[in-house]
Amino acid sequence: MKISIIGTGYVGLVTGACFAEVGHEVVCVDADANKVRTLQAGGIPIYEPGLEDLVLRNVAAGRLSFTQSTADGVARSEVVFIAVPTPPNPDGSVDLSYIESVAREIAGCLEGYRIIVDKSTVPVKTAEKVAETVKRYRRTEVEFDVVSNPEFLREGFAIDDLMKPDRIVIGTNSARAAARMRELYAPFEAPLIVTDTNSAELIKHAANSFLALKISYANALSVICEASGANVQEVTRGMGLDARIGTRFLQAGLGFGGSCFPKDLSAFIQISDQLGYDFRLLKEVQRINHGQMERFVKKIEDTLWVLKDKRIGVLGLAFKQNTDDVRSSPAIDLCLRLLGGGARLRVHDPKAMDKAKAMLSPGPNLEYVEDPGKVAEGCEALVIATEWPEFGRLDWAAIRASMSTAILFDGRNLLDPAEMKSLGFLYKSVGR
Ligand code: UGA
Repeated sequence: MKISIIGTGYVGLVTGACFAEVGHEVVCVDADANKVRTLQAGGIPIYEPGLEDLVLRNVAAGRLSFTQSTADGVARSEVVFIAVPTPPNPDGSVDLSYIESVAREIAGCLEGYRIIVDKSTVPVKTAEKVAETVKRYRRTEVEFDVVSNPEFLREGFAIDDLMKPDRIVIGTNSARAAARMRELYAPFEAPLIVTDTNSAELIKHAANSFLALKISYANALSVICEASGANVQEVTRGMGLDARIGTRFLQAGLGFGGSCFPKDLSAFIQISDQLGYDFRLLKEVQRINHGQMERFVKKIEDTLWVLKDKRIGVLGLAFKQNTDDVRSSPAIDLCLRLLGGGARLRVHDPKAMDKAKAMLSPGPNLEYVEDPGKVAEGCEALVIATEWPEFGRLDWAAIRASMSTAILFDGRNLLDPAEMKSLGFLYKSVGR
């Protein structure tokens, strides 16, 4: 089938590449001329494992192309995906101006029946608003349908999540659109559910908030474990093996970050409020998440006593492993707090150093270090802030020897406490 995807961020680009991979003809549209030029020249503006190969292969096969023109994209496709950002407003609500302006643009160039699919994470009832907008701005009585098709990919695992999804959700009130969407997704083997648009939109916010809740539950348990001498990893493992609970998304640590959970949680709280429900459970999820960082910083302060002029190494800047994304990264938040206390940081991330520089500029108190094995050299303490698996494989005996005092704070419970103690570290992690 012929499809266009408007917005070439993480979701748009990966979705476009995966649809091309299964044989669809895809044109990706972006208003940013530089981004389109980069993509046309074979460059990939984000780091996502496997994405570069996937994009290049499908461009070479003639199934994937890039344009700056929405009109061109809409003319060349039957299904038009909207995958533009829905950033937070200062009060936590969602800024829908990009969605609205794309809906108007699409309306202005509609010449035949099109299925307009919203992939961005949006508040319930947005599809209805998109339909009203397209009706208002279309130039002729041309037919169209609006579908809500939320995306569930995780950064760092995006291609796998897209090619082998747990489920596909199609929200539409049109049988015609539902049938075409089923064809579009036929190459993917996954349960597909068709609902009304409002339910589909709610599924996305409900799922992300539930996952955030699971993480906050594990983080709250970590506090109880620390106070009682239990081990949170044992507790969550023992709980999670109950198939009704599941072991995933129960890792205690520095709390959740990224461009989705914090924003979507705030949005869902706001949406619920507007619908007349005070979702206090989710407010508590947020509170636990903030508390987790506060407690970790306090642990560092209590151990080091005075932060001012302490040399601290930090491993990890991305909001999680396998990505160069630093948006709402707990690791960046932690660095800012330590710098605020007067500490001198040496930091490293396998992929996110360039993006981190926009938030943490190098200076007398902040040095970027290319070699993770050297980040702790001469330091009084080392902090693990992101769960990159390669940090677990470093030469920890050599790191210990390179430090002036061997204090290790593992904010992601990545290392084995007994092993670190046997190497001579004063080792502190979360809930163990
Ligand atoms: C999340 C969801 O997992 C996706 O299903 C969803 O499609 C996406 O948001 C979105 O709405 O677009 P993502 O933000 O890429 O995906 O990352 P996650 O893997 O969910 O991690 C989010 C944060 O939670 C990270 O900071 C991670 O370190 C933290 N986390 C995750 C934990 O602290 N503990 C865990 O057990 C799992």
